[in-house]
Amino acid sequence: MRRLLVTGGAGFIGSNFVRYLMEHSDAHVTVLDKMTYAASRESLAGLPADRVELVVGDICDAVLVDQLVSRLSGERDALVHYAAESHNDNSLHDPSPFITTNIVGTFTLLEAVRRHGVRMHHISTDEVYGDLELDDPERFTESTPYRPSSPYSASKAGADHLVRAWARSFGVPVTLSNCSNNYGPWQHIEKFIPRQITNLLDGGRVKLYGSGRNVRDWIHADDHSSAVWTILNEGSIGQTYLIGADGELSNRQVIALILQQLGQDPDDFDHVTDRAGHDLRYAIDASMLRTELGWKPQFGAFEEGLARTIDWYRDHRDWWAPQKAATEATYAAKGQ
Ligand code: NAD
Ligand code: TYD
Repeated sequence: MRRLLVTGGAGFIGSNFVRYLMEHSDAHVTVLDKMTYAASRESLAGLPADRVELVVGDICDAVLVDQLVSRLSGERDALVHYAAESHNDNSLHDPSPFITTNIVGTFTLLEAVRRHGVRMHHISTDEVYGDLELDDPERFTESTPYRPSSPYSASKAGADHLVRAWARSFGVPVTLSNCSNNYGPWQHIEKFIPRQITNLLDGGRVKLYGSGRNVRDWIHADDHSSAVWTILNEGSIGQTYLIGADGELSNRQVIALILQQLGQDPDDFDHVTDRAGHDLRYAIDASMLRTELGWKPQFGAFEEGLARTIDWYRDHRDWWAPQKAATEATYAAKGQ
């Protein structure tokens, strides 16, 4: 049976991928996750115990990583690397864990796959490319130069550079993907969309950074997972693929939709202190993935995916409510 080691598999997107694998493959999955504040055991609950194993540990722990990577062998086994510190606002407050996990952690994994000759797929973000002007006719492609703005995106860029260097210098068999902003179930309520949904479900107000003209390119996490699975199976070794679903919307447009879908006035929100160094616009051109590997997103209109996401948060109050007060207190302390 095919074995996959999935780092960060108890987080938002990693757990989506593990659930995706249960439906679309017969793979055996070992999740390596440190279970930071962003992880959730519930996101893996109910999956078949004979196919999913959770190992609680740190990707910077070279002994543990070596032991887990040594269990992978054969052409179809792989390490899929999602684990990261992932929130820009946290990286502005304390960059240290971002450098440790995102850079040193990726280095630790690379050394293990190098020793054992194992295939690795590295998950990254479009934020490594910096930002675009609102009227820039070009979107990000696989050849866009790196220009990260925040400690988070710089640490992801550093990790990407290490992965490419290990491929070129040591012949490590890797693929990389840089995806746009994800939304869907199990996303931590510190992030934009779930924060606004849960604020409203809690009787609070929507909090918009700055003017809200910043644009993000939204993709449902299910579509990210199907893209990664396509790359793992069909991708060319050494290649980077951009993943996106042509979902550009301004933050102002997104909050108007959330307010509308929750039956509130689309202009009823608070402007709060802007994020330092706030990137203006991200936009992905995913032509290579679509034309070379034949991938396409399954989710249609953002409005429909958003409605389903709102329903999910309404139905999973027990999951997010215990973290809500502390998350909002952290934002309030920063005027956000
Ligand atoms: P997340 O914060 O929800 O989950 C990250 C997971 O990694 C958590 O389960 C956490 O416990 C684990 N982790 C953190 N440090 C660890 C360590 N040292 N050792 C082992 N596990 C550790 O993040 P996410 O939004 O699911 O993002 C997953 C990946 O996708 C990241 O690499 C991120 O850069 C990338 N990405 C995210 C987005 C997005 O919109 N969220 C977009 C593109 C790419
Ligand atoms: P976020 O979910 O943090 O993702 P990223 O920084 O990776 O794009 O934020 C998405 C956008 O929403 C970003 O432009 C910042 C903005 N934002 C708000 O306007 N209000 C908020 O409360 C948060 C958390 C984010």
